[in-house]
Amino acid sequence: MVAAYHTRYGQMVQGSAEQVLRAEATTMYRGRVQLIFTSPPFPLNRKKKYGNHRGDAYVTWFASFAETFREFLTADGSIVVELGNAWVQGRPVMSTLALKALLAFLDRGRLHLCQQFICYNRARLPTPAQWVNVERIRVKDSYTHVWWMAPSERPKADNRRVLKPYSAAMRRLLQTQKYNSGKRPSEHDIGTESFLTDNGGAIPSNVLEFANTSASDPYQEYCRKHELSLHPARMPLGLAEFFIRFLTEPGDLVLDPFAGSNTTGAAAERLARRWLAIEPREDYIRGSVGRFGDGVTVAWL
Ligand SMILES: C[S@@+](CC[C@H](N)C(=O)[O-])C[C@H]1O[C@@H](n2cnc3c(N)ncnc32)[C@H](O)[C@@H]1O
Repeated sequence: MVAAYHTRYGQMVQGSAEQVLRAEATTMYRGRVQLIFTSPPFPLNRKKKYGNHRGDAYVTWFASFAETFREFLTADGSIVVELGNAWVQGRPVMSTLALKALLAFLDRGRLHLCQQFICYNRARLPTPAQWVNVERIRVKDSYTHVWWMAPSERPKADNRRVLKPYSAAMRRLLQTQKYNSGKRPSEHDIGTESFLTDNGGAIPSNVLEFANTSASDPYQEYCRKHELSLHPARMPLGLAEFFIRFLTEPGDLVLDPFAGSNTTGAAAERLARRWLAIEPREDYIRGSVGRFGDGVTVAWL
C-alpha cells in the first residue's frame, strides 16, 4: 500500500482493500471506524473499466469483507453499501447476484439490516437500452439500492441531522396552526396537536433523490484540465453527505474501502469527519485530488 495524499481530515491510500485492511499500517484504525460508506465494484457480465468479479466468485469475494469490515467498526458503527441493479447480459432479466452477495455479507458479518434505502435518479439515461428503448419490453432502471447494516441493532444515528425543508403545505399548517385531526382511512389517529410543533424540518423518507447532473464541478474541471478520465461510476456527493450526517458526528472516522474518485472523502472533509479512502487505480486517485482544491498534500507526485 502507498500513501497517495492527505488533507486536513483524511488520507487516500493506493492499494486493494484486501491488502490495505490487512496491513500493519491500518491496525490503528481497528475498532475506530464509525461508518464504512462505500459503493463496491458490482457484478457485471462484461468487463467495465474497473475490477469486477463475475458470477458466484463475486458473491464469495464481497462476503469475504464482512468480518474484516466489522473488525474496523466501533461497537455502534454502521456499514452502508450502495449497489446498483445488474442485468444478465443479452437477456431481459435481472441478475440476482447483488442480492445474493448482500445476504452472504450479512450472514458472514453477523450483521443486522437496519434499513434499506432507494436512491432515485430521475435523470438517469434509459437502461438497459435494448429492452427499454429498442424492444420496449422493460421500463427505465432508475435507482440504486443503499443497504444500511450494523453489528448492533441500535447503531449511532440521528435523523434530526438530516431533516429536509418542510413542504409548502406543512409551512402553512405551522403558520395557521389548523388541520383536521382524527382517524385517517389508514386507521392512524391524528391528535389535535400532532403537527403543530416546528421541529426545524421534515423527517426524510428512505427514498432519496440524488443525481450527478452537473456537467461541471471542481472534480470534473480538474480532470479535464489534467487530461484524466472521469470515474465511470461516481456516486452523488449528496448521497454520501446524507449518510455521513445521519450516522456520524464531527470528528468521527469514515472509511471507504472502494473509493474510486473519493466522493466519500470529499463529503467527509466538508462535514469535518476524519476519513480513510482506499483505491487501487492510480488514474482514479489522480483525478480525485481535484475534489480538495488547495487543501491537499500529494505524496507521490
Ligand atoms: C463503484 S466504484 C466506486 C465509485 C466511488 N463511490 C465514487 O464515487 O467515485 C468501485 C471502485 O472500487 C475499486 N476497486 C475494485 N477492486 C477493488 C479492490 N479489490 N479493493 C479496493 N478497491 C477496488 C475500483 O477501481 C472502483 O474505482
